[in-house]
Amino acid sequence: MILSLFIKLTRSPAWAKKTWNFWYNFAHLVDGRAGNLNFMNWGYAPKDTAGKILPLDPRDENDRFPLQMYYHTIGRRALAGLDVLEVGCGRGGGARSLMKYASPRSLTGIDLSARAIALNNKSNADRALSFRVGDAENIPFPDGSFDAVVNVESSHCYPNIKAFFSEVFRVLKSGGKFFYADFRIIEKMRSWIEAIESSGFVIQEKEDITADVLRSLNRDSLKKERLIRKRVPFFLRGYFRRFACTSDTEFYMSFVNGRRFYHRYLLVKP
Ligand SMILES: C[S@@+](CC[C@H](N)C(=O)[O-])C[C@H]1O[C@@H](n2cnc3c(N)ncnc32)[C@H](O)[C@@H]1O
Repeated sequence: MILSLFIKLTRSPAWAKKTWNFWYNFAHLVDGRAGNLNFMNWGYAPKDTAGKILPLDPRDENDRFPLQMYYHTIGRRALAGLDVLEVGCGRGGGARSLMKYASPRSLTGIDLSARAIALNNKSNADRALSFRVGDAENIPFPDGSFDAVVNVESSHCYPNIKAFFSEVFRVLKSGGKFFYADFRIIEKMRSWIEAIESSGFVIQEKEDITADVLRSLNRDSLKKERLIRKRVPFFLRGYFRRFACTSDTEFYMSFVNGRRFYHRYLLVKP
């Protein structure tokens, strides 16, 4: 019953933002105890290369698939010399790995969750990398501040997706790149794609990566299940399984049954 109320609230334009913010602040509190959770996306594991798309520092191997989601979202490019904004940076693992494997000049991560930002700032010693609280629908930077914007598995939480696209457009320089990945349920695909197409960006790359996300979920499901059993109190495990998309959840099955799709885009500001 609580779960269905939660789902209803995340679908209400008036309550969605507050509900997601409550949930993520709470989730960071619970999984913060694990200390080493860096990512919250569902990962990317292509078929052809045994799931691996780049050589990793062995210390990052445990996060390979969620880290690869970032690397693939930026089109496996270097970001050298660029000032990059990440919107919805969560626990900062994506931002830290882009610094390490794509070498931008600077990377600024924003997230609605004050708890996530506090955790990121606690451990961050890199002067080119910074984190602050910020809303995707009201990005706290002047026009034309960035060369690139990254957004991974976060925009499904935003009640006003058009406001988000218009904010990304505003803070990018002309010619700036928007590296974007997220999922939608089939009923919302049309309005999502229409919002992208009418955003003013040129769609330079578009890819359905549902099968690659599913492959990553299959590979990491057992690991996540173990972590949930170890760290999460019994009565909360169902929520965390849903959030982690383990293989016994309706969310996971919706990818298998073709009811939910995961896309990656490269959008360019003319
Ligand atoms: C599934 S997590 C993904 C985090 C990160 N991108 C990753 O892949 O690890 C979604 C993130 O979006 C953030 N978020 C939700 N609504 C937001 C908003 N309106 N503005 C900024 N961040 C938001 C949440 O707080 C959460 O950290």
